[in-house]
Amino acid sequence: MKQAVQKWAEYYSGVENTLRNMRQVKAVATAFNTNVDAVLKINGRRLAELARETGLDWQALTEVKENKLHMPQDVIRGAFKCFSKGIAEEWLTEDIGVFNFMSEQLGFDRLQMGGQGGIVANALAVCGVQQVFCHCNSLSELQARQFLPLDNLLSFDENGAVKAAHQINRTADTPLIHWIIEFDKGDVFELDGHKVSCPKANRFIATYDPLNLRLVMDENFVDYVARQKLDAVILSGYHALTAANGGVELIEGSVPVVQRWQDRGALLHLEVASTQDKIVRKAIVEKVASRADSIGLNERETIDVLEVINEENLAKICEEDCTAVNLFDALLRIKKKVGSRRIQMHMFGLYVTLQDKDFPVSPEANRRGMCLAATVAASKAGSGHINEVKNLLWSKGMDPCAPGLEELKKLGDYIGDENLVLTGISHYEDYDVIAVPTILVEKPLTLVGMGDTISSVSLVSALGGQLIQKS
Ligand code: GLC
Repeated sequence: MKQAVQKWAEYYSGVENTLRNMRQVKAVATAFNTNVDAVLKINGRRLAELARETGLDWQALTEVKENKLHMPQDVIRGAFKCFSKGIAEEWLTEDIGVFNFMSEQLGFDRLQMGGQGGIVANALAVCGVQQVFCHCNSLSELQARQFLPLDNLLSFDENGAVKAAHQINRTADTPLIHWIIEFDKGDVFELDGHKVSCPKANRFIATYDPLNLRLVMDENFVDYVARQKLDAVILSGYHALTAANGGVELIEGSVPVVQRWQDRGALLHLEVASTQDKIVRKAIVEKVASRADSIGLNERETIDVLEVINEENLAKICEEDCTAVNLFDALLRIKKKVGSRRIQMHMFGLYVTLQDKDFPVSPEANRRGMCLAATVAASKAGSGHINEVKNLLWSKGMDPCAPGLEELKKLGDYIGDENLVLTGISHYEDYDVIAVPTILVEKPLTLVGMGDTISSVSLVSALGGQLIQKS
């Protein structure tokens, strides 16, 4: 293992270069979901107080019939469910009463950029991509303030003029605010003689968002972007749709829009995201993931995809034993059944990419991109934000984590390549395999938006490296 640690220190030492190469990337668009996140750190005591204030006893609190917010009490139920299991979930509501309850009774510690589209746009712009176009179906002043004040970060005003996103104020738009309720590991909750300790720092998201829940599009963005020569489009925002709201038709309706971007030569990456509605999840997989050049998911989302491609058994195996080896089998199965040319999975301690041999980004470029993504993600977790260039490489020099290296070793043994732990690059059947042990931060200051950052930085920075090599 000592040799492996040394090798990875070597690969990781290239991150500064890889970051610099991102400036070669001319234009990237992010779509569709951008919103404002109201972040609230809650402790067990306050959560129990809220349960009591809203009239929930232990039984009513723990009785979760549906992962949905019908009434204010459901916000407490969802938060408690995530707190007690140390998991991340997002529940939706269409009831403004629930939104009012959160504004009036919960409050927040800070506002920040939310939604995969917005988070990725900020990250790519600060990393130096020359032009980043961000889709916003609502761009109020409050939303604009969540954009970094950068000239390369662009969106559209109400007349369709392209401008620095932070300077736009579409006065008729209502801000779309999601509550991000975070909790710490080890925190204790007590109610009616029951005592629960939180096993893992995580967060619960409560979302009232009439526009993103209907995949409303800004036509100005859609048309302008279709006329640009883009290097990549980072796509997301389907996860909040529901079948009852015509989610499947909305997904179908978006396909020609996305196709136009792809026809102009943009590499299309879909961030799968945690999708509660299974009918919608299946439609995302069949209609969008299947035509995306690249898809990104975490371990939970990988299992979720298995469930909608008739791989329930494998889903169960991964659920019971969430190892890199089992997840690798899952990726293979998804790759074969869904058909995207590149799949990247990020799990605790390790990123794994499986791609077609002729994919336009080489395995080496992928490895460089994945090392940079791991560095930026750890920097975000450790420093609290990556709003400034100086924070991007905050974690540079930290060792790749031991659990990641161990998983990588087992994965290498499994695919019959004992060198994988030293190189991170191999092949299996007809595919290239690239796997990178990540950097772990002991006490993360933030977790929200991590997956989005990892997927986009790794792909776009890998692209940047290729552009340099070609020129
Ligand atoms: C979801 C949430 C959004 C959050 C994002 C982070 O899109 O709706 O509030 O910022 O996930 O990945």
